[in-house]
Amino acid sequence: VIFESSNDASILVANEIAVLIRSKQSQNKKCVLGLATGSSPVKVYDELVRMHKEEGLSFKNVITFNLDEYYPMEKENIQSYYYFMHDHLFDHIDILPENIYIPDGTIEKDIYKYCMSYDKKIDEAGGLDFQLLGIGRTGHVGFNEPGSHYNSGTRTITLDYVTRADAAPSFLGIDKVPRKAITMGIATIRKAKRIVLLAWGINKAGVVKTAIEGEISSQIPATYLQSHNNVTFILDDEASSEL
Ligand code: GLP
Repeated sequence: VIFESSNDASILVANEIAVLIRSKQSQNKKCVLGLATGSSPVKVYDELVRMHKEEGLSFKNVITFNLDEYYPMEKENIQSYYYFMHDHLFDHIDILPENIYIPDGTIEKDIYKYCMSYDKKIDEAGGLDFQLLGIGRTGHVGFNEPGSHYNSGTRTITLDYVTRADAAPSFLGIDKVPRKAITMGIATIRKAKRIVLLAWGINKAGVVKTAIEGEISSQIPATYLQSHNNVTFILDDEASSEL
């Protein structure tokens, strides 16, 4: 779906999430959301915060699982996805702290077990009702870089040079960008009942074209979404310009 502006598109996506939360509330059920970081979802979070403050949208029945976190990474570091999520969303809504899951960038021992338990927690919560995604210029979703397997679960991954270069400005230099991350896997993401991917701006036009029109390939992990039965790419004019 192509919009003139990312603003209007973000409002539509926030509305879809709000409708889902309210419908789960009316059935007395939890709503399980998979959330993303980066600049793409910021306006969606702004709109959800506005709906909470002005329209009384409650997040008390919401459980969230974030896609990824740099590794290693302290929570209080302003470049952490922990910090990002609290700053843009969690600190401004009524979600219960025990319902917030973000991969822990400080974990030292048994990281493999920790990653497996992350997927298990998602399953125990009933699976992701809705997964929000951005897309990286390498074709990554979450931090599933080229080479990621279709069946991959949550795990540690080595970040691609392009991904680290894109993150360099916020870390004040590529040398300061962590070399690794913890990310939900492709299988973890694909199990979501509904997936919405956001892409804005001319820098994403090339990768958006490959993700939608290219052959399914581990070299562009976003192509794995093509075989999901309920996925929508939400684009602005620039991001859709090569389609
Ligand atoms: C990071 C995140 C991804 C995100 C991507 C794009 O690499 N791990 O989940 O989709 O950045 O970021 P942006 O939305 O800022 O373009």
